[in-house]
Amino acid sequence: MAQTYHQLRLDLATALAGFLDPGEAQGECLRWFEDGLGLSRSWLAAHGQEAAPAEARQRIGGWVRRREQGEPWAYLLGWSLFRGRRFEVTPDTLIPRPETELLVEAALDVGKRLGVERCVDVGTGSGIIAVSLALETGWQIAASDLSNGALAVAQRNAKALGAAVQFHEGDLLEPVPEPLGLVVANLPYVDPADRPTLQRELAFEPASALFAPDRGLALSAALLAQARARRAAACLLEIGAGQGGELCRRALGIGWAKALIHQDFAGHDRILIALS
Ligand SMILES: C[S@@+](CC[C@H](N)C(=O)[O-])C[C@H]1O[C@@H](n2cnc3c(N)ncnc32)[C@H](O)[C@@H]1O
Repeated sequence: MAQTYHQLRLDLATALAGFLDPGEAQGECLRWFEDGLGLSRSWLAAHGQEAAPAEARQRIGGWVRRREQGEPWAYLLGWSLFRGRRFEVTPDTLIPRPETELLVEAALDVGKRLGVERCVDVGTGSGIIAVSLALETGWQIAASDLSNGALAVAQRNAKALGAAVQFHEGDLLEPVPEPLGLVVANLPYVDPADRPTLQRELAFEPASALFAPDRGLALSAALLAQARARRAAACLLEIGAGQGGELCRRALGIGWAKALIHQDFAGHDRILIALS
């Protein structure tokens, strides 16, 4: 007998529960139908007893095999939401994290208070920060990344969402012309020594988007120095839990007048704001 949508959903829930924790398995099961197959909960309630086509069963089967190996759902799907917008993501880009919304909120707040007209997103990845700021402000937005694979994705996202962003390939601020205005970045900040203890999903994201030398501090510290030397109005960074104290000391040591830390909802250091 052909498998119904209802049966397919039960089988998927059982398969996911075999390798995810129960809450995660339930949430993913719904998302796979809604986002992956485009079948809403209400559609499934009305059509659950109909036979699921072979294509839907094959797609679910293929996703289960990849997800079981730890591949993140966003890579299977090919997109992720950030500030309510859909961004393409590929294995060349980090998957957007909810904490990065705090960085965008802080950039909007600081940029408006300082009256900036320009902003640079350093390490743009899929372009979430640059595109969000381009769409939510009247600022001129530039973005840089070392990875041309990531920049290609960011360019497609900017085009798809109608955002005007100047993209530059290169190291930190080097390829970006002055004046800089506000500098915003979510650069790699994970300590390479923590690698063996990390969730296995992280192994699918580019190492060059996650890890930085000097206990995760090297790129943040280098950008603070470059932004200061090139007279940025302010530099806002997403940082790792516990990195706030040392990065604030380093920021003040290289001539920033003020350095403040915002914590995330879990109470961890998350955003550093350096002001001139
Ligand atoms: C943590 S990911 C963040 C991506 C995106 N901004 C986000 O929030 O999802 C860091 C990004 O920085 C880029 N990157 C790493 N080192 C860099 C460097 N020295 N200069 C420019 N970009 C760099 C990586 O390629 C990656 O795309």
